[in-house]
Amino acid sequence: MAVDLLLGLQWGDEGKGKIVDVLTKNYNIIARFQGGPNAGHTLEFDGIKHVLHTIPSGIFHEDAMNVVGNGVVIDPVIFKRELDNLKQFDLDLVKTLVISRKAHLILPTHRLLDAASEASKGKAKIGSTLKGIGPTYMDKTGRNGIRVGDTEMNNWQEKYRALANKHEAMISFYDVDIQYDLKELEAEFFDAVKVLKSLTFIDSEEYLYQAQKQGKKILAEGAQGSLLDIDFGTYPYVTSSNTTAAGACTGLGVAPGNIGEVFGIFKAYTTRVGSGPFPTELFDNDGETMGRVGNEFGATTGRPRRCGWLDLVALRYAVQINGVTQLMMMKGDVLSGFDTLKICTAYKYKGETIEHLPYNIEAENISPIYTEISGWKEDLTKMRSVDEFPTALNEYIDFLEKQLEVPIKIVSVGPDRTQTIHR
Ligand code: GDP
Ligand code: IMO
Ligand code: MG
Repeated sequence: MAVDLLLGLQWGDEGKGKIVDVLTKNYNIIARFQGGPNAGHTLEFDGIKHVLHTIPSGIFHEDAMNVVGNGVVIDPVIFKRELDNLKQFDLDLVKTLVISRKAHLILPTHRLLDAASEASKGKAKIGSTLKGIGPTYMDKTGRNGIRVGDTEMNNWQEKYRALANKHEAMISFYDVDIQYDLKELEAEFFDAVKVLKSLTFIDSEEYLYQAQKQGKKILAEGAQGSLLDIDFGTYPYVTSSNTTAAGACTGLGVAPGNIGEVFGIFKAYTTRVGSGPFPTELFDNDGETMGRVGNEFGATTGRPRRCGWLDLVALRYAVQINGVTQLMMMKGDVLSGFDTLKICTAYKYKGETIEHLPYNIEAENISPIYTEISGWKEDLTKMRSVDEFPTALNEYIDFLEKQLEVPIKIVSVGPDRTQTIHR
């Protein structure tokens, strides 16, 4: 049985959490494959809003298994907080949530290193969520990391000490003022590791292999978005993992030939939180309206998200890199009320018109070329079927499908589970 993937195609926060929750009824297993608590995945149903960071977004479905894959980095302290938030919902997490032994742990000193590195960069900072993501993946690829499975060994605290000592020396290398009480942070960390250990650790690649053999349906849940990919994103303003389709293979141990559908999620406009280039960014009333109506504040950090028109050059690139087979358009409702909508279909780059994403997309190198389309006034949030869609919305969708050459199968018209329209 093939493994389907669900990925964000922009700079994150496309609505992955919502759609994974909606799709979980069709799957036996939901498996997160990369990223860590830098992610904030929002789900809404029965009038309650939930934000998950590390726990897969299938967790509210009793019959689905949720796997935290080897490609994920886990901060036990944040994980414990997520578990605490879930307590009131009476879920049997020991049964439905399992963790890869090969996933790496975010130590308190990784978080401090992230803060020190960012502070030392000044204006050139990445705009990291400061969750320790970069330093943890650095220790992973540098072959110094501590993995979930290590906590089952007797000597793991020695390994921890050696690494934390090294980190302290590294922190002092940065000439910045970072105040911390490591003893306190460590007490919290070790307490949280105990809680983590109350869950089930597994060899997740074997688990997923057997599940595939048994015909179980698996959905791999991505975090962040393609333009934050360590290789293909707007480097260095990216995260430290492969957020694109290939990341699901390395982050779960799924063979490339066993990938089925690739669901690509995008907002009907574009947002970005943190630093880095953003060709279609708006600094006017239109951008302000998108941010206000779309309630564009980061689910993890609360920072306002930068907003702009839909960038088809970047989206086409993401569709291509991921091999997207089905698209899902989110937050169409936020665009209601604009007289005219703009869609960036090409860039002016060094005097030429180009349709692919070049190496340099900073504002001084490129300017977006827009196609204008009529907007719609109707409120979409109460609509439950495509038959109710205004003509202008259908024209917007048709235009995107033609440009991207992939069908848009879901149109989301609000944050709630029920505000999801299949085409
Ligand atoms: P994720 O990181 O991709 O899971 O996305 P986030 O949860 O960070 O951000 C998406 C935000 O948009 C959340 O607040 C969602 O509740 C909300 N949302 C999702 N889909 C829609 C939609 O179709 N319309 C509106 N208005 N909000 C949506
Ligand atoms: P979800 O899964 C949006 C951004 C940060 C920063 C850059 C690097 O909710 O879509 P990091 O903490 O990884 O070192 O930050 O990446 N970023 C996200 N932006 N959504 C996310 O996740 C993000 N995770 C990281 O803002 O610009
Ligand atoms: Mg998010």
